[in-house]
Amino acid sequence: MHAVIINGSPRIKKLSNTDKILEKFTAGMTENGTTFEQYEVSDKKQWEDIRKAFYENTHILIAIPLYVECIPGLLLEFLETLSPKNDETEIAFILQSGFAEGIQLRCGETYLKILTKKLGCKYAGTLVKGDNFSIRWVEEGTAERVTAPYTEMGCEYAKTGGFESDKCKAFTGPEIFSFPLRVMLGVVFAVFAKSGFKKISQGVGCTKPLDYKPYK
Ligand SMILES: Cc1cc2nc3c(=O)[nH]c(=O)nc-3n(C[C@H](O)[C@H](O)[C@H](O)COP(=O)(O)O)c2cc1C
Repeated sequence: MHAVIINGSPRIKKLSNTDKILEKFTAGMTENGTTFEQYEVSDKKQWEDIRKAFYENTHILIAIPLYVECIPGLLLEFLETLSPKNDETEIAFILQSGFAEGIQLRCGETYLKILTKKLGCKYAGTLVKGDNFSIRWVEEGTAERVTAPYTEMGCEYAKTGGFESDKCKAFTGPEIFSFPLRVMLGVVFAVFAKSGFKKISQGVGCTKPLDYKPYK
């Protein structure tokens, strides 16, 4: 199988969590000879090549970060430039997000089924997974703990051409956290979030307080 992979994040490749996930995913996917070409929607100069690859190939994988509960606007802008196909092309999706509970990705997942139909293609499933906020903020070794499990999902994709297997469905993890865990997370968030975000913002060069209001 040869897959066309489209990273749907508006973030440039170097800063994209989706790209780090795809790095591990494609390592597993190519273990038994599957090949791929990868594109970034964030780079508008690639759009013509992505369109060409979409029209000329029958296995498309779009990897998407959840932005405000659905898919990023830049990806939508790109998708609107595609004409529907009608040649048995299969589209599978990786839908990944910051928050961990599976339930908050289900609306986006439903939309992806509708989108596939609009593109005249066959739906090959969505790998749904949250808990990816940290990839960008932590050191490489720690991020590896979050991204490494995607290698096995890459093997599954190569084997089945999609994400409909029970293994892929189980990969999502908890749909909703238990009540005690939600209470505990609420407390941890209230106590540590402010100082944690302050530290992160300073780490990426922010010199003003996070509640700074320059236009007030
Ligand atoms: C503008 C914006 C909106 C986001 N909205 C959500 C959201 O609604 N739910 C969620 O769980 N994560 C949300 N996230 C977190 C991203 O889905 C998550 O960090 C993802 O791994 C980013 O991947 P990327 O770096 O490839 O863009 C949002 C991030 C940004 C920057």
